[in-house]
Amino acid sequence: MNLKGRSFLTLKDYSKEEIEYLLNLAAKLKKNKKNGILGRSLKGKNIALIFEKPSTRTRSAFTIGCIDEGGHPEYLGKDDIQLGDKESIEDTARVLGRMFDGIEFRGFVHESAEKLAEYSGVPVWNGLTDNYHPTQILADFLTIKEHFGKLEGLKLVYAGDGRNNMANSLLIGSAKMGINITILSPKTLWPDQELITLCNEYADVSGGQIKLTDNINGVAGADVIYTDVWCSMGEEDLVAERIKMLAPYQVNDDMLAMTGKAHTIVLHCLPAVKGNEITYDVFEKFAEPIFDQAENRMHTIKAIMVATLGDE
Ligand code: CP
Ligand code: NVA
Repeated sequence: MNLKGRSFLTLKDYSKEEIEYLLNLAAKLKKNKKNGILGRSLKGKNIALIFEKPSTRTRSAFTIGCIDEGGHPEYLGKDDIQLGDKESIEDTARVLGRMFDGIEFRGFVHESAEKLAEYSGVPVWNGLTDNYHPTQILADFLTIKEHFGKLEGLKLVYAGDGRNNMANSLLIGSAKMGINITILSPKTLWPDQELITLCNEYADVSGGQIKLTDNINGVAGADVIYTDVWCSMGEEDLVAERIKMLAPYQVNDDMLAMTGKAHTIVLHCLPAVKGNEITYDVFEKFAEPIFDQAENRMHTIKAIMVATLGDE
């Protein structure tokens, strides 16, 4: 499998086989690191980390993943550069592309990531935009595979804001990999029809199923319940409205009981607002898989950099 030179902007651009390849590479890199073996795949490579929004996991994962493989990461925060403000994204991209070998971008507008990729001429990795969070999905799927030994045929229920970056990306990833995904959310927060149509096409190929429902009974049979904050970064002024809309979709003991399965796990991309989308008790009960998921950000992001930019 050769992914050299490719950007990673959304999972739409990656086939099932390519996603599987990245998951297997991440598992290998994880095992190696646990055995004290680090690679030199990014030796001599300089990587720009652009962050318009804050981050704990994504920033740390790109930084450590890059250094573990012998590369040099450079953090460019929102107050450090004048991206799209005094200097256009196109010009910034052309400058960074002359100096750096790869660029991570976390920001608001997804088109900014696309422009960076188009104008820099180097691989651009999406570290979260308003619409998509594809690197998170690789960590989620690695965690699910470690837990259940497979992805295909499992039922994943995403409860909460059904049209945010996480819901969109889980929908795309699940449809590609043959996971049966249910978006459990009020109708006003369902994903765009265009994305649903596209994902139904992916699901037709993979054999997965997509369901959208605002009925809490949709959790029945869930192997994985996934949730995320009710207000994403940039939406903080919507808190009161969202709490009202989404309270019935909180991941709590009652919801867990409704799965009818003893082995259901709960995942969360983090950071969590406990007491809103998930109760303190349920969070602590599933702390093990949730923090495996956080650790797996690093192994999967390392795999993306190694696969698209590395020398090995
Ligand atoms: N899950 C995630 O992307 O976390 P950060 O916002 O801390 O990077
Ligand atoms: N939907 C959340 C994800 C955080 C990782 C946000 O965009 O803030």
